[in-house]
Amino acid sequence: MELDGLDKNRLPQHVAIIMDGNGRWSTQRRKHRIEGHRRGKTSVRVIVEMSRKIGIRYLSLYAFSTENWFRPDDEVEALMGLLEHYLVAEQAKMMRYGIRLLCVGDRSRLPVAVRRTLEGVIETTANNQRMTVVLALSYSGRDDITRMARKLAQQVKAGQCQPEAIDEQWISAQLDTGGIPDPDLLIRTSGEMRISNFFLWQIAYSELYVTPTLWPDFREKEYLQALVDFQQRRRRFGRTDEQIEQSPLAVVEAGGRKS
Ligand code: IPE
Ligand code: IPE
Ligand code: MG
Repeated sequence: MELDGLDKNRLPQHVAIIMDGNGRWSTQRRKHRIEGHRRGKTSVRVIVEMSRKIGIRYLSLYAFSTENWFRPDDEVEALMGLLEHYLVAEQAKMMRYGIRLLCVGDRSRLPVAVRRTLEGVIETTANNQRMTVVLALSYSGRDDITRMARKLAQQVKAGQCQPEAIDEQWISAQLDTGGIPDPDLLIRTSGEMRISNFFLWQIAYSELYVTPTLWPDFREKEYLQALVDFQQRRRRFGRTDEQIEQSPLAVVEAGGRKS
């Protein structure tokens, strides 16, 4: 794999991807939508593998949104089947390569068999340390925030949490992504300029990258291009260019927060 043009010292710590365009890939080839999803699964394998080689610490993949439950039953069923196959097929590789699997989203809505397989892989890979893959399944940003608010209300009601104790760190920690740093780079394939209810709170200062390439065609070359593009961005977090030139690290470490 050619990594020309990539600065190993300026890698995003967390890359999040909205994997879109499987249906259009199929339509262009007069194939059934499921064919696109199947090929999209190969893209997932390729991108996970490449992330590990490059040294990306966190990779989040938006695989199924809460809104996707409204798709035709046969498509939902096929997607769940592909997910289960993926998990079964990839577990050994995750162990070999030190990949930890996490899941964000409302797991209780997943079919029991899928949930069991998922939880098995999460448990088996829990101590792996090289890279974390976060699968967003039955996930939406608003649902995440809503469930967090419910938790908060319960804690306040039980007298376990004082309103003054609530700050941005507290909220971040209570979301499904608690403990995971915010994405530095958010990629969306297939050209749509929207977030589609993916991470909302978490992408406050993420760099956005939208490519017309459809997810089943998003492979090494496209990924590398996104990473190189990211490295050319100047992240200011609200500061001035002069402040960044004086102490770039302090600005990055402070993220969007006051320091
Ligand atoms: C992304 O591809 C996969 C999921 C949302 C599960 P789509 O199936 O949304 O593909 P398009 O947008 O119809 O091309
Ligand atoms: C976003 O894609 C969800 C996933 C990639 C899982 P969609 O295809 O569901 O998004 P919209 O409906 O075009 O916004
Ligand atoms: Mg789509």
